[in-house]
Amino acid sequence: MSIVQPGWSDEIEILRRESLDQLVALATIVEAAEWESTFLGPKGRVTLLLRGLSKLPVEERPLAGRAAQLLRNELATAFEPVQDRIRTESLKARLATDAVDVSLPGRVPTIGAAHPISTMIDELVQIFALLGFQAVFGPEVETARYNFDLLNIPADHPARDVWDTIHVETDGEEIVLRTHTSPMQARTMERIRPPVRVIVPGIAFRFESQDASHEWQFTQLEGLAVDRNITLADLKGTLQELARQLFGPERRIRLRCDYFPFVEPGVDFAVDCAICEGRGCRVCKHTGWLEMGGAGMVHPSVLRGVGYDPDEVSGFAFGLGIDRLAMMKYAVDDLRAFANNDIRFIRDFARAIG
Ligand code: DAH
Repeated sequence: MSIVQPGWSDEIEILRRESLDQLVALATIVEAAEWESTFLGPKGRVTLLLRGLSKLPVEERPLAGRAAQLLRNELATAFEPVQDRIRTESLKARLATDAVDVSLPGRVPTIGAAHPISTMIDELVQIFALLGFQAVFGPEVETARYNFDLLNIPADHPARDVWDTIHVETDGEEIVLRTHTSPMQARTMERIRPPVRVIVPGIAFRFESQDASHEWQFTQLEGLAVDRNITLADLKGTLQELARQLFGPERRIRLRCDYFPFVEPGVDFAVDCAICEGRGCRVCKHTGWLEMGGAGMVHPSVLRGVGYDPDEVSGFAFGLGIDRLAMMKYAVDDLRAFANNDIRFIRDFARAIG
Protein backbone atom coordinates (compact mmCIF):
# COMPACT_ATOMS: atom_id res chain seq x y z
CA MET A 1 0.00 0.00 0.00
CA SER A 2 1.33 3.44 -0.90
CA ILE A 3 1.73 6.04 1.86
CA VAL A 4 0.63 8.74 -0.51
CA GLN A 5 -3.08 9.13 -0.14
CA PRO A 6 -4.97 9.02 -3.37
CA GLY A 7 -6.80 12.15 -4.56
CA TRP A 8 -10.28 11.00 -3.55
CA SER A 9 -9.15 10.76 0.05
CA ASP A 10 -8.25 14.48 0.14
CA GLU A 11 -11.46 15.33 -1.53
CA ILE A 12 -13.45 13.49 1.13
CA GLU A 13 -11.50 15.13 3.92
CA ILE A 14 -12.02 18.64 2.47
CA LEU A 15 -15.72 18.00 2.11
CA ARG A 16 -15.83 16.69 5.69
CA ARG A 17 -14.15 19.76 7.17
CA GLU A 18 -16.17 22.19 5.14
CA SER A 19 -19.47 20.60 5.96
CA LEU A 20 -18.76 20.19 9.67
CA ASP A 21 -17.50 23.81 9.94
CA GLN A 22 -20.70 25.05 8.39
CA LEU A 23 -22.80 22.73 10.54
CA VAL A 24 -21.71 24.28 13.84
CA ALA A 25 -22.54 27.75 12.54
CA LEU A 26 -26.17 26.90 11.64
CA ALA A 27 -28.69 29.09 13.49
CA THR A 28 -32.06 28.98 11.75
CA ILE A 29 -34.42 26.35 10.37
CA VAL A 30 -33.92 27.73 6.87
CA GLU A 31 -30.13 27.53 7.16
CA ALA A 32 -30.38 23.95 8.45
CA ALA A 33 -32.56 22.93 5.50
CA GLU A 34 -30.13 24.56 3.07
CA TRP A 35 -27.18 22.79 4.65
CA GLU A 36 -28.94 19.44 4.44
CA SER A 37 -29.74 19.84 0.78
CA THR A 38 -26.24 21.19 -0.06
CA PHE A 39 -24.47 18.19 1.44
CA LEU A 40 -26.87 15.30 1.90
CA GLY A 41 -29.69 16.03 -0.52
CA PRO A 42 -30.24 14.02 -3.73
CA LYS A 43 -28.20 16.62 -5.61
CA GLY A 44 -25.94 17.31 -2.64
CA ARG A 45 -22.19 17.22 -2.68
CA VAL A 46 -21.78 13.87 -0.85
CA THR A 47 -24.20 12.24 -3.24
CA LEU A 48 -22.32 13.67 -6.23
CA LEU A 49 -19.08 12.43 -4.71
CA LEU A 50 -20.44 8.89 -4.37
CA ARG A 51 -21.61 8.95 -7.95
CA GLY A 52 -18.21 10.21 -9.15
CA LEU A 53 -16.48 7.16 -7.68
CA SER A 54 -17.35 5.15 -10.79
CA LYS A 55 -14.65 7.11 -12.61
CA LEU A 56 -11.92 5.77 -10.29
CA PRO A 57 -9.74 2.83 -11.20
CA VAL A 58 -11.55 -0.41 -10.31
CA GLU A 59 -9.17 -1.40 -7.46
CA GLU A 60 -9.65 1.91 -5.66
CA ARG A 61 -13.39 1.91 -5.80
CA PRO A 62 -14.27 -0.29 -2.74
CA LEU A 63 -12.09 1.70 -0.36
CA ALA A 64 -13.20 5.05 -1.73
CA GLY A 65 -16.82 3.91 -1.69
CA ARG A 66 -16.63 2.89 1.96
CA ALA A 67 -14.93 6.21 2.92
CA ALA A 68 -17.60 8.23 1.15
CA GLN A 69 -20.37 6.18 2.77
CA LEU A 70 -18.79 6.70 6.19
CA LEU A 71 -18.71 10.44 5.56
CA ARG A 72 -22.35 10.38 4.63
CA ASN A 73 -23.28 8.56 7.85
CA GLU A 74 -21.09 10.84 9.94
CA LEU A 75 -22.69 13.97 8.53
CA ALA A 76 -26.20 12.61 8.91
CA THR A 77 -25.52 11.66 12.53
CA ALA A 78 -23.97 15.04 13.28
CA PHE A 79 -26.83 16.91 11.62
CA GLU A 80 -29.64 15.34 13.66
CA PRO A 81 -28.91 16.94 17.09
CA VAL A 82 -28.14 20.27 15.43
CA GLN A 83 -31.49 20.22 13.68
CA ASP A 84 -33.28 19.29 16.94
CA ARG A 85 -31.59 22.11 18.79
CA ILE A 86 -32.52 24.67 16.15
CA ARG A 87 -36.16 23.50 16.10
CA THR A 88 -36.48 23.70 19.87
CA GLU A 89 -34.88 27.14 19.97
CA SER A 90 -37.10 28.56 17.26
CA LEU A 91 -40.24 27.16 18.95
CA LYS A 92 -39.16 28.77 22.21
CA ALA A 93 -38.56 32.08 20.46
CA ARG A 94 -42.00 31.94 18.83
CA LEU A 95 -43.76 31.12 22.09
CA ALA A 96 -42.03 34.05 23.74
CA THR A 97 -43.13 36.60 21.13
CA ASP A 98 -46.64 35.25 20.34
CA ALA A 99 -47.51 34.56 23.96
CA VAL A 100 -51.22 34.83 24.93
CA ASP A 101 -51.83 36.91 28.03
CA VAL A 102 -54.40 34.79 29.85
CA SER A 103 -54.84 37.43 32.53
CA LEU A 104 -56.45 39.93 30.10
CA PRO A 105 -60.17 40.47 30.83
CA GLY A 106 -62.44 38.87 28.22
CA ARG A 107 -64.68 40.79 25.85
CA VAL A 108 -68.31 40.91 26.99
CA PRO A 109 -70.55 39.65 24.17
CA THR A 110 -73.42 41.92 23.13
CA ILE A 111 -76.73 40.30 23.95
CA GLY A 112 -79.75 41.36 21.92
CA ALA A 113 -83.06 42.32 23.51
CA ALA A 114 -86.64 41.93 22.38
CA HIS A 115 -88.33 45.04 20.98
CA PRO A 116 -91.05 46.36 23.34
CA ILE A 117 -93.70 45.73 20.69
CA SER A 118 -92.55 42.12 20.35
CA THR A 119 -92.66 41.75 24.13
CA MET A 120 -96.21 43.14 24.11
CA ILE A 121 -97.26 40.78 21.31
CA ASP A 122 -95.77 37.80 23.17
CA GLU A 123 -97.73 38.73 26.26
CA LEU A 124 -100.99 39.14 24.30
CA VAL A 125 -100.50 35.84 22.49
CA GLN A 126 -100.08 34.12 25.86
CA ILE A 127 -103.15 35.74 27.38
CA PHE A 128 -105.31 34.81 24.40
CA ALA A 129 -103.93 31.28 24.23
CA LEU A 130 -105.39 30.72 27.70
CA LEU A 131 -108.74 31.95 26.37
CA GLY A 132 -108.59 29.46 23.48
CA PHE A 133 -107.43 31.81 20.71
CA GLN A 134 -104.82 30.77 18.17
CA ALA A 135 -102.41 33.35 16.67
CA VAL A 136 -102.37 33.62 12.87
CA PHE A 137 -100.48 36.01 10.59
CA GLY A 138 -101.43 37.60 7.29
CA PRO A 139 -99.93 39.60 4.43
CA GLU A 140 -99.03 43.27 4.94
CA VAL A 141 -99.60 44.01 1.25
CA GLU A 142 -103.25 43.25 0.72
CA THR A 143 -105.93 43.38 -1.94
CA ALA A 144 -108.76 45.88 -1.55
CA ARG A 145 -111.08 42.87 -1.61
CA TYR A 146 -109.86 41.65 1.79
CA ASN A 147 -108.93 45.04 3.23
CA PHE A 148 -112.32 46.58 2.35
CA ASP A 149 -114.87 44.69 0.20
CA LEU A 150 -115.25 41.55 2.30
CA LEU A 151 -115.41 43.75 5.42
CA ASN A 152 -118.60 45.29 4.11
CA ILE A 153 -116.85 48.41 2.83
CA PRO A 154 -117.58 48.45 -0.94
CA ALA A 155 -115.69 50.81 -3.29
CA ASP A 156 -118.36 53.53 -3.20
CA HIS A 157 -118.84 53.36 0.57
CA PRO A 158 -118.01 56.66 2.30
CA ALA A 159 -116.42 54.76 5.20
CA ARG A 160 -113.60 53.71 2.86
CA ASP A 161 -112.19 57.22 3.32
CA VAL A 162 -111.90 56.67 7.08
CA TRP A 163 -108.82 54.55 6.45
CA ASP A 164 -106.27 56.86 4.82
CA THR A 165 -104.96 54.26 2.50
CA ILE A 166 -101.47 53.89 1.02
CA HIS A 167 -101.96 52.38 -2.44
CA VAL A 168 -99.41 50.07 -4.00
CA GLU A 169 -101.28 49.39 -7.25
CA THR A 170 -104.35 51.10 -8.68
CA ASP A 171 -104.28 49.82 -12.28
CA GLY A 172 -106.11 46.53 -12.55
CA GLU A 173 -106.57 44.94 -9.12
CA GLU A 174 -106.41 47.48 -6.31
CA ILE A 175 -103.52 46.61 -4.00
CA VAL A 176 -102.91 48.46 -0.73
CA LEU A 177 -100.73 48.33 2.35
CA ARG A 178 -103.27 46.89 4.77
CA THR A 179 -104.84 49.69 6.78
CA HIS A 180 -105.73 47.35 9.65
CA THR A 181 -105.39 43.68 10.62
CA SER A 182 -109.11 43.10 9.94
CA PRO A 183 -108.55 41.59 6.44
CA MET A 184 -107.42 38.43 8.22
CA GLN A 185 -110.99 38.00 9.45
CA ALA A 186 -112.19 37.10 5.96
CA ARG A 187 -108.99 35.23 5.06
CA THR A 188 -109.38 33.03 8.15
CA MET A 189 -113.09 32.39 7.77
CA GLU A 190 -112.63 31.45 4.10
CA ARG A 191 -110.18 28.75 5.14
CA ILE A 192 -111.91 27.14 8.11
CA ARG A 193 -115.43 26.41 9.33
CA PRO A 194 -116.70 27.52 12.77
CA PRO A 195 -115.80 27.35 15.59
CA VAL A 196 -113.23 30.08 14.87
CA ARG A 197 -111.08 31.66 17.59
CA VAL A 198 -108.08 33.55 16.26
CA ILE A 199 -105.98 36.58 17.02
CA VAL A 200 -103.90 38.37 14.39
CA PRO A 201 -100.97 40.46 15.60
CA GLY A 202 -99.38 42.54 12.86
CA ILE A 203 -98.31 45.80 11.30
CA ALA A 204 -100.73 48.10 9.49
CA PHE A 205 -100.18 51.34 7.57
CA ARG A 206 -102.02 54.59 7.06
CA PHE A 207 -101.28 57.79 5.20
CA GLU A 208 -101.01 60.01 8.25
CA SER A 209 -98.89 62.87 9.51
CA GLN A 210 -96.80 61.84 12.47
CA ASP A 211 -96.78 63.12 16.02
CA ALA A 212 -96.17 61.68 19.47
CA SER A 213 -99.31 59.56 19.23
CA HIS A 214 -99.67 58.96 15.45
CA GLU A 215 -97.47 56.93 13.13
CA TRP A 216 -97.97 55.92 9.52
CA GLN A 217 -96.91 52.43 10.57
CA PHE A 218 -98.43 50.89 13.67
CA THR A 219 -99.20 47.53 15.21
CA GLN A 220 -102.61 46.04 15.82
CA LEU A 221 -104.07 42.90 17.21
CA GLU A 222 -107.25 41.62 15.64
CA GLY A 223 -109.48 39.13 17.41
CA LEU A 224 -112.25 37.00 15.95
CA ALA A 225 -114.56 34.39 17.44
CA VAL A 226 -117.34 32.74 15.44
CA ASP A 227 -119.52 29.91 16.67
CA ARG A 228 -123.13 29.08 17.42
CA ASN A 229 -124.73 31.44 19.97
CA ILE A 230 -121.88 33.90 20.39
CA THR A 231 -123.23 37.08 21.99
CA LEU A 232 -122.06 40.53 22.98
CA ALA A 233 -121.64 39.16 26.52
CA ASP A 234 -118.87 36.86 25.22
CA LEU A 235 -117.11 39.87 23.70
CA LYS A 236 -117.46 41.82 26.92
CA GLY A 237 -116.14 38.94 29.02
CA THR A 238 -113.17 38.45 26.71
CA LEU A 239 -112.19 42.14 26.74
CA GLN A 240 -112.71 42.32 30.50
CA GLU A 241 -110.37 39.36 31.01
CA LEU A 242 -107.82 40.92 28.68
CA ALA A 243 -107.83 44.19 30.63
CA ARG A 244 -107.38 42.36 33.94
CA GLN A 245 -104.59 40.17 32.66
CA LEU A 246 -102.77 43.18 31.26
CA PHE A 247 -103.36 45.80 33.92
CA GLY A 248 -104.40 43.96 37.06
CA PRO A 249 -107.51 42.28 38.59
CA GLU A 250 -109.10 45.60 39.65
CA ARG A 251 -109.55 46.88 36.10
CA ARG A 252 -112.94 47.65 34.63
CA ILE A 253 -113.79 48.18 30.99
CA ARG A 254 -116.15 50.52 29.22
CA LEU A 255 -117.96 49.83 25.94
CA ARG A 256 -119.54 52.72 24.03
CA CYS A 257 -121.49 52.66 20.79
CA ASP A 258 -119.33 53.23 17.74
CA TYR A 259 -119.57 52.55 14.05
CA PHE A 260 -117.47 50.17 11.97
CA PRO A 261 -118.99 48.79 8.75
CA PHE A 262 -118.00 45.19 9.53
CA VAL A 263 -119.72 44.94 12.91
CA GLU A 264 -123.27 45.47 14.16
CA PRO A 265 -123.54 46.63 16.85
CA GLY A 266 -120.13 48.26 17.01
CA VAL A 267 -118.37 49.63 20.07
CA ASP A 268 -115.19 51.30 21.15
CA PHE A 269 -113.68 49.98 24.33
CA ALA A 270 -111.55 51.46 27.05
CA VAL A 271 -110.05 50.34 30.34
CA ASP A 272 -110.07 52.46 33.49
CA CYS A 273 -106.69 54.06 34.08
CA ALA A 274 -104.54 51.90 36.34
CA ILE A 275 -102.33 54.85 37.29
CA CYS A 276 -105.03 57.06 38.83
CA GLU A 277 -107.68 54.36 39.37
CA GLY A 278 -110.02 56.33 37.13
CA ARG A 279 -109.74 59.65 38.98
CA GLY A 280 -107.95 61.35 36.08
CA CYS A 281 -104.25 61.93 35.46
CA ARG A 282 -101.77 62.89 32.75
CA VAL A 283 -101.56 59.38 31.29
CA CYS A 284 -105.35 59.13 30.70
CA LYS A 285 -105.49 62.82 29.80
CA HIS A 286 -107.74 63.39 32.83
CA THR A 287 -110.56 61.23 31.46
CA GLY A 288 -110.02 58.26 33.77
CA TRP A 289 -110.13 55.93 30.72
CA LEU A 290 -107.57 54.57 28.27
CA GLU A 291 -108.85 53.84 24.76
CA MET A 292 -107.89 50.35 23.61
CA GLY A 293 -109.68 49.81 20.29
CA GLY A 294 -112.85 48.96 18.43
CA ALA A 295 -115.04 45.87 18.55
CA GLY A 296 -118.48 44.51 17.83
CA MET A 297 -120.60 41.63 16.59
CA VAL A 298 -119.51 40.44 13.14
CA HIS A 299 -121.86 41.93 10.54
CA PRO A 300 -124.13 39.37 8.80
CA SER A 301 -122.85 40.60 5.41
CA VAL A 302 -119.30 39.72 6.42
CA LEU A 303 -120.38 36.22 7.48
CA ARG A 304 -122.31 35.77 4.25
CA GLY A 305 -119.36 37.03 2.20
CA VAL A 306 -117.20 34.13 3.34
CA GLY A 307 -119.95 31.54 2.95
CA TYR A 308 -121.12 31.36 6.58
CA ASP A 309 -124.83 31.37 7.39
CA PRO A 310 -125.64 34.26 9.79
CA ASP A 311 -128.79 32.39 10.90
CA GLU A 312 -126.62 29.52 12.14
CA VAL A 313 -123.55 31.21 13.54
CA SER A 314 -122.62 34.55 15.03
CA GLY A 315 -119.36 36.09 16.12
CA PHE A 316 -117.52 38.97 17.69
CA ALA A 317 -114.44 40.82 16.49
CA PHE A 318 -112.14 43.38 18.02
CA GLY A 319 -109.07 45.38 17.04
CA LEU A 320 -106.51 46.66 19.56
CA GLY A 321 -103.79 49.23 19.04
CA ILE A 322 -100.71 47.43 20.32
CA ASP A 323 -98.48 50.51 20.26
CA ARG A 324 -100.92 52.34 22.52
CA LEU A 325 -101.08 49.38 24.86
CA ALA A 326 -97.29 49.23 25.03
CA MET A 327 -97.15 52.98 25.67
CA MET A 328 -99.51 52.61 28.61
CA LYS A 329 -98.07 49.44 29.99
CA TYR A 330 -94.44 50.56 29.77
CA ALA A 331 -95.00 54.32 30.21
CA VAL A 332 -93.43 55.27 26.87
CA ASP A 333 -94.56 58.78 26.00
CA ASP A 334 -93.68 58.99 22.30
CA LEU A 335 -95.07 56.43 19.87
CA ARG A 336 -92.33 57.23 17.36
CA ALA A 337 -89.73 55.65 19.65
CA PHE A 338 -91.04 52.21 18.64
CA ALA A 339 -90.20 52.50 14.96
CA ASN A 340 -87.24 54.85 14.66
CA ASN A 341 -84.61 52.15 15.20
CA ASP A 342 -82.80 53.80 18.08
CA ILE A 343 -81.00 50.84 19.63
CA ARG A 344 -80.46 52.77 22.90
CA PHE A 345 -84.22 52.93 23.44
CA ILE A 346 -84.59 49.16 23.05
CA ARG A 347 -81.60 48.50 25.29
CA ASP A 348 -82.89 50.80 28.06
CA PHE A 349 -86.31 49.32 27.72
CA ALA A 350 -85.04 45.74 28.00
CA ARG A 351 -83.05 46.71 31.09
CA ALA A 352 -86.09 48.40 32.65
CA ILE A 353 -88.44 45.44 32.29
CA GLY A 354 -85.64 42.96 33.11
N1 DAH B 1 -110.07 47.61 12.05
C1 DAH B 1 -110.51 48.72 12.87
C2 DAH B 1 -109.52 49.87 12.70
O1 DAH B 1 -108.41 49.68 12.47
C3 DAH B 1 -110.56 48.34 14.31
C4 DAH B 1 -111.67 47.40 14.59
C5 DAH B 1 -112.91 47.86 14.96
C6 DAH B 1 -111.48 46.04 14.43
C7 DAH B 1 -113.94 47.01 15.20
C8 DAH B 1 -112.51 45.16 14.68
C9 DAH B 1 -113.75 45.66 15.07
O2 DAH B 1 -112.38 43.84 14.56
O3 DAH B 1 -114.77 44.79 15.30
O4 DAH B 1 -109.86 50.98 12.80
